[in-house]
Amino acid sequence: MSNIEKFLIIGSASQILGVKIAYELGIECIDTEFKTFPDGENYLRINLEDETILEGKEVIIVQSTGPSVRNDQNAQLFELLMMIDAVKRIGAKKIIVIVPYLAYARQDKIFRPGETTFIRTLLRIINSMEIDEFYVVDLHEPKVLKEMTCKTINIDSMKLLAEYIKDLGAKDIVVLSPDKGAVERSKTFAKHFGNNVPVKIFEKERCKKTGEIKMTGSFNLQNKDVVIPDDIIATGGTMATAISLAKQNGANKVYAITTHALLLKNAKYRILKAGADEIIGTDSIDNEVCKVSLAKAIIDYLK
Ligand code: R5P
Repeated sequence: MSNIEKFLIIGSASQILGVKIAYELGIECIDTEFKTFPDGENYLRINLEDETILEGKEVIIVQSTGPSVRNDQNAQLFELLMMIDAVKRIGAKKIIVIVPYLAYARQDKIFRPGETTFIRTLLRIINSMEIDEFYVVDLHEPKVLKEMTCKTINIDSMKLLAEYIKDLGAKDIVVLSPDKGAVERSKTFAKHFGNNVPVKIFEKERCKKTGEIKMTGSFNLQNKDVVIPDDIIATGGTMATAISLAKQNGANKVYAITTHALLLKNAKYRILKAGADEIIGTDSIDNEVCKVSLAKAIIDYLK
């Protein structure tokens, strides 16, 4: 770690994770004051009286952009931009921005004419704010980070999630990839349980217009504990469909694992009703399934 004094600014969407990181690093943390004006505009201030304490210092900003505290990920995203803007204006010497869950990450390619690859533009906007380092966790398509010229790091949370499953005492594990896009992640994840843990892949088709999912796959999962890792659980459609299929194939226990448990609408109900024994997420999103902390993985990079 460098010798410059450090401060950690914790955004509204990363209160649990932010405090853990600050505590582990032994540095001072500062929260933010935020609200929405009657016209819908966002307001944000770093919660300090003497802003000169940040002048010439290294400032770490932690703010996820999932639909956490304000149930509005656009508001969380604006808070992030406003936090960077404030710290920049005050004159921090080095700015490290940690966005565990980055909203719009799934808008990385064109599916239908007239769409936008907005994640790329968003990254260019953040990059234009002249930050020094940008960290994300299990980004949906890591290649998009090439839009930035600052140092970027995509942190892998799979080891931490696998450790949680090991502690549960899961036996005869099969890792199941809910679609082809998740295969590499599933393979990496499986290696944390040993070299011979099988990875099975379901075929998923999603209707580009309605978002409706069709999934197929037939394997012998009798007496197997099945672990299904995905980067994001949003509406729960992908996970619930994969769990139902795993159960039809004879799975014993089924664990729904994700880095970013957005759990929108009735996702929890769908996943548990499909037969999941447990939903396990990280503190990328502050909610009731955040059982695994990303703090250790993030601190390893900050050090
Ligand atoms: C898709 O490619 C992602 O990796 C996730 O599988 C997807 O975003 C999950 O969305 P939902 O929970 O709405 O099915």
